[in-house]
Amino acid sequence: MKKTIRDLNLKGRRVFIRVDFNVPVKGGVIGDDTRIQASLPTIKYALDAGASAVVLASHLGRPKGKPNPEMSLKPVAKRTGELLGKDVAFAEDCAGEAASKTVKSLPPGGVVMLENLRFHPEEEKNDEDFAEQLASLADVYVDDAFGAAHRAHASVAAIVQFLREAGAGLLMDSELRYLGEAVGNPARPYVAVLGGAKVSDKIEVIENLIPRVDRLLIGGAMAYTFLKTQGKPVGKSLVEDDKQEAARDILERSKARGLSLMLPVDHVVAPKIEANVHTETLSVDDPKIDDCMGLDIGPRTAKMYADALHDARMVVWNGPMGVFEIDAFAQGTMAVAQAVADVKGTTIVGGGDSIAAVKKAGVEDRITHISTGGGASLEFLGGRALPGVAALPDK
Ligand code: 3PG
Repeated sequence: MKKTIRDLNLKGRRVFIRVDFNVPVKGGVIGDDTRIQASLPTIKYALDAGASAVVLASHLGRPKGKPNPEMSLKPVAKRTGELLGKDVAFAEDCAGEAASKTVKSLPPGGVVMLENLRFHPEEEKNDEDFAEQLASLADVYVDDAFGAAHRAHASVAAIVQFLREAGAGLLMDSELRYLGEAVGNPARPYVAVLGGAKVSDKIEVIENLIPRVDRLLIGGAMAYTFLKTQGKPVGKSLVEDDKQEAARDILERSKARGLSLMLPVDHVVAPKIEANVHTETLSVDDPKIDDCMGLDIGPRTAKMYADALHDARMVVWNGPMGVFEIDAFAQGTMAVAQAVADVKGTTIVGGGDSIAAVKKAGVEDRITHISTGGGASLEFLGGRALPGVAALPDK
């Protein structure tokens, strides 16, 4: 168990909170503030506990070590202030004088957001001098950036050497609890639902899930690599030919374990990914797919997957069943979202697309835990130690 913010003495101290406010920003407008909302309880906790100042640090996008105004956190600081109902100052740089001056000029109990950490190449290099500079801004370190925990970067890893009084924020803590339950002590039946475009992104997770889950349901474009391996006609569907060997191995290992690995039995196909295009629902054995590609699971598969979820006590879902952004290819994903929401057990949804799908289905309030980490949650479920978690002290 990692120390959490609740184990730290924050009274009268400056608290550095590493958040993952890597949110979509276009032209200074924030598309989705879920990640900001998710860390508000941690920020409020620090303020209520009497912190003399809260220093918020995050990355945004991939600016490759150089300042880039399009990836400035300034609009994020403003939005954070609105959501917090309190002024949030902005430091034009996350290190050096700009940062230290802004922090020093805060009123008691003030909050400042630092400019994008990745404007400095040292952040991604996990550079110790840079980490020390960040650490010099505060007395205590709190890591709430679960979404960035799979990166060995200065603000989540090296910094802990210089701010030994450290712990997980409330968001990080709940992510670790729920995902930890899924990895370590799942209630049964335990069902995993995986989808999305590429099987290559999910091979490690699948391999780690095979000995753990009772049922594994696969949808989305990644299903076609498996279907092709089984000799099914896949037409122009997205297939990763170089992953067929891995897919075959997964199918064999699942069989050897007696695991029920389910693949689509029917699908919605179309000649291209477009709204208003002519679609057809075919069995996955039907060679009529020919010039078309599979863009959603079909109704028989959706029913089969809903039945497989019905008595589940633990569910992990990552990746949509089809191109759900287009209504003609959304029904499979919506049916799975509904079935996951109906589960009487712990349900965990991760990955930006599945979260958007859960929102589109209007069932987000009925999911036990929506993970803010896409890559991080997959790596965690894949059994990897996350550098940002490993760096935190144990209780
Ligand atoms: C994410 O959005 O998954 C995290 O913020 C990590 O971002 P990165 O993939 O650019 O490191």
